[in-house]
Amino acid sequence: MPLVNMKQMLAHAYANRYCVGAFDLVSLDFLQGILQAAERCEAPVILSLAESHFDYFDFDILMPAVVAAARRAAVPVAIHLDHGASLESAVRGINLGCNGVMVDASHHPFEENVARTREVVEMARGCGVPVEGELGYVPGVEGEDAERHPGEVVYTTAEEARRYVEQTGVDFLAVSVGTVHGRMKGEPRLDLDRLAEVNEALGLPLVIHGGTGLSDEQFLALIERGVAKINYYTALADAAGRRIGENGSGGYTARVAGVAEAVAAETERCIRLWGGAGRAGEVLEACTPWAPVEHLIYYNIEGLDEAGVESMMEEGRRVLSTIPGVLRVVTGRAVQGDAAYRYCWVVEFCHPAVIDSYRDHPLHRRFADERFRPVAGNRISIDFVSVE
Ligand code: 13P
Repeated sequence: MPLVNMKQMLAHAYANRYCVGAFDLVSLDFLQGILQAAERCEAPVILSLAESHFDYFDFDILMPAVVAAARRAAVPVAIHLDHGASLESAVRGINLGCNGVMVDASHHPFEENVARTREVVEMARGCGVPVEGELGYVPGVEGEDAERHPGEVVYTTAEEARRYVEQTGVDFLAVSVGTVHGRMKGEPRLDLDRLAEVNEALGLPLVIHGGTGLSDEQFLALIERGVAKINYYTALADAAGRRIGENGSGGYTARVAGVAEAVAAETERCIRLWGGAGRAGEVLEACTPWAPVEHLIYYNIEGLDEAGVESMMEEGRRVLSTIPGVLRVVTGRAVQGDAAYRYCWVVEFCHPAVIDSYRDHPLHRRFADERFRPVAGNRISIDFVSVE
């Protein structure tokens, strides 16, 4: 159950001037370490999966574990797609269980960034999922993550940020004020006045990418000026790498022993510094649980033989599962021969908002009007939200 609405989670952090860590994970050790740290601190946490890291793991395979771990956590958790490259990436992330998505079009000119971000916001609204946009550019300098973010820094300006948020409708804004992805080289210089101006102009939760390498004072100064989410990865990867190095030679399990704890220790240091410790209870109270909706249809068929029914079901599973906000599509046949309804659909939506956006989606309309309704006049349909 402690998967919660991420917009409400960050609204709480922003209003109470602390910051939730969005820790990028690349393996089950990271997942366990990050959640252990959040539970030890009794803090809200964001499990973040970056599209720029998809070479390191299979997103489709890892996500069910991430969702299961979040659901059984003792603290409020959100699952975020970090650096989503396209509308298709955002849909994929949502349909696998992310309840927040970032669209990273920050390397494009302003107008194109707005257009690409806006189409993601429109889609995500229909799924009840909040969107993070980025304006300005946070480059990479050194470390595992750096080559994924080539180029020079472009600072965010308050005036552009105001227009960007107005035109896109994003819920959170990632800003560029002097941080870099990966390890720092030399002393990072942050433009805190610029950050204060952006915060003054927008009044919404701000996000910092490139958390690794900042000093304690710099983190606190960022949070003081409206930063409610900090993205953090390289320091976790370095802590994991150091532990593997210390373990020396041996088999696989001997070499990776203690990696989850190394990740947990660095995550815990950040959570405590950023003010999230002890906040789990308040956040749970302030946030709506993120619970799926089961859209159930029981039906009988007239005018199709069994092969025709199979083919209609197969098309439905394939087509309907691509609609934004659809977590899974199950087709079923009654076990009892004398059941009042012989067939069913179980379509799982990520959020109640999908009831409307799914009904109106062109793919659903075409399938329902042309393939399903003409043969399934006898049917009932009910939407259930799980009660825990
Ligand atoms: P670091 O790797 O510098 O901590 O940055 C992580 C990040 O911003 C991911 O989006």
